[in-house]
Amino acid sequence: MKIDQAIILDHAIQRDLIEQLLATEGDSEDRRHLFKRLKQELKIHADAEERHFYVPLIEIDRTQDDARHGIAEHHEIEELVEQVEEAEFDSSGWLKHAKNLADKVLHHLEEEEQDYFPKANEVLSDEQAEEMGDQYLNAMNDARKQSD
Ligand SMILES: [Fe+2]
Ligand SMILES: [Fe+2]
Repeated sequence: MKIDQAIILDHAIQRDLIEQLLATEGDSEDRRHLFKRLKQELKIHADAEERHFYVPLIEIDRTQDDARHGIAEHHEIEELVEQVEEAEFDSSGWLKHAKNLADKVLHHLEEEEQDYFPKANEVLSDEQAEEMGDQYLNAMNDARKQSD
């Protein structure tokens, strides 16, 4: 599978978790469980995406800036995850931080899908995109096995 298609499948998981998380109320088991899953999903995706998508694109002039910007956004997302973690689960601050995180992640996924993937597809051969996709999927499979 090509790298952009493989990533889009995991973006769908993130969007679904975000939607479910924002619908939770108070300090509930649902809220704690969904936040833990989203945090884990964001982390393993960012690691695999950096290694198998962004790092190869940093080597190419036309995609270097996008790749750097994408990686910088992963760090911003990590900081927003920490802010949610530091808030009390049943406080109004928690929801505010969770919404900030959701906005940032959704913006990031949109930018990758609408802007970075089309540009990457212009500079990568089909063969390269397939190979990167396979490596990404392997990395995600390994990470999911470890977290079970
Ligand atoms: Fe990303
Ligand atoms: Fe992504």
